[in-house]
Parts: sequence; structure tokens; C-alpha cells
Amino acid sequence: MELPDTDPAHERIRALSLAKYRRHAARYDGSLGPTWPIRQRAVQGLGLRAGQRVLDVGCGTGMSLALLRSAVGERGHVYGFDQSPEMLARARALAAPWPNVTLMHAAAHELRLPEAVDAVLFHYTHDILRSPCAIEHVLRSARPGARVAVAGMKYFPRWLAPLNLWVYFKNHGYNGAPGQLARPWDRIVPHLAGWQLTPTQFGMGYLAFGTVRQGAADQAAAAAAAGDRGAPPRAPAATRPSSQPAGAAQGAR
Ligand SMILES: C[S@@+](CC[C@H](N)C(=O)[O-])C[C@H]1O[C@@H](n2cnc3c(N)ncnc32)[C@H](O)[C@@H]1O
Repeated sequence: MELPDTDPAHERIRALSLAKYRRHAARYDGSLGPTWPIRQRAVQGLGLRAGQRVLDVGCGTGMSLALLRSAVGERGHVYGFDQSPEMLARARALAAPWPNVTLMHAAAHELRLPEAVDAVLFHYTHDILRSPCAIEHVLRSARPGARVAVAGMKYFPRWLAPLNLWVYFKNHGYNGAPGQLARPWDRIVPHLAGWQLTPTQFGMGYLAFGTVRQGAADQAAAAAAAGDRGAPPRAPAATRPSSQPAGAAQGAR
């Protein structure tokens, strides 16, 4: 069952994000150097084991895929999705030789996976974290107790407040919802147990972990029972094999 994102504000944010990543996709990877150690810590903190399933939320150009894949091994599976065709095309090219990586062209609120995952990575996915509907929908794809890593930018502490103008404009380049950086995690925290947050980048970033509460998974099971009884899991409308070019199976969003 899809949760429609009926909030027009979130639709506006998504549209802005799509336009921004259309421009950024080609040079996105070149801007990632400073956050690479955070990405590594985020993946490491998921505590993945061989054979597990992991979801890369808003996977972008696929920069976390190799790390995730190496953590779950050949028997494990990595799922990733992104709403930007330009970003996803790059991820698809990267993942083309990897049979255990499935990439989907989808917005967070319409994600649909064929199985529950053991871990979820939100790496610099601010816009998705600002949509309660998107968060709820993504977490429905995880089993109870699944480990969740969340990393991103936030405002500096109050004593460095003048620098936050710079943080705002840095975010403005990439996010549809560039503000709301005081506590960008506040909408996902109620869904997670054992939330632990560490500031990164001198306070301009954060890395946090938690586990999916039972309730989120119960909702997922109830939704599946009510909406899909007897029907085989429907592949996401947007799902295409990694090797298929973006836009081939579905009209551009
Ligand atoms: C800053 S990039 C991060 C990409 C990747 N996670 C990384 O760490 O390199 C944010 C990504 O989120 C995607 N995104 C934003 N809003 C989305 C939504 N509602 N559904 C799916 N993807 C979304 C963007 O297209 C973009 O690729």
C-alpha cells in the first residue's frame, strides 16, 4: 500500500530537489571528499553481517553502494532508490556488474521493496527526513529491530551561529527544504529506539544510529495484509534491473 504524500509542501520540495539534482548530477561525486569518513562510519555503524539486506535511501550516484555491498557480501543484497533520474543513472552504471544490487527509480513515499531489510542508510538525505510520510514509508520496508544510520548537515551550535548563514546557503544548493537544520533528525527519532547522535564536522554535521521500533514493522505487516492479501509482492512501479537505463521502463518523473 502506497502512502500518498498529500502535503503540497513536500511535493514542492520534491520538485525543487529534482531540478537541483538535474544540474548537480554530473559533478556531484567530485564534492564528496570531506564527507567520505562520515559515510564509512555510517556504513560501519550499521553492523551489517554477510547475507543481510540493506537499503540505501536516496542513494544518489551510488557512492555508498560498494561499501554496503562489501559489508553484506555476495549472499547479501543491497537495495537503493532515488527520485532523480540523473543521479540514479550514475548509480546504475556503477552497479551494473553487481547482481546483488537492485536500484529503483522511486520517490521515498512510493518505495516498495520485495522483502524487509535488516538495515537502512539515510546518508545526506535531508529532504526525505523532513517528510513524515516519506520516513514512515521507508521504515515500513525494514524489519523490527533493523539498524538505521542517519547522517547529514545541521546548524552549528549557538555560539557559532553566524556561520549558519553559510550552512544554509550550502544546503540551499542541494535541498528542496534547505532550512530546518536545527534538528533535522527530529521527524525520524520517534520511529527509532536507542537513538544516539554524535556531532561531526565541528558541529556542522551529525551521525546517528537507532533501531526500527516494533510499531513501524507492525504497521507494515498490517498494511501488507490489508492491501496485498494473496497478491505477490508487486515490484515497485519504478523498479528496473540495474543494467537498464533510467527512463527506459518508466516515464521521467
Ligand atoms: C545529497 S544527495 C545524497 C545522495 C547519497 N545518499 C549520498 O550519500 O551520496 C540527496 C539525494 O536524495 C534524493 N532525494 C531527495 N528527495 C527524495 C525523495 N523524496 N525521494 C527519493 N529521493 C530523493 C536526491 O535526488 C539526491 O540524489
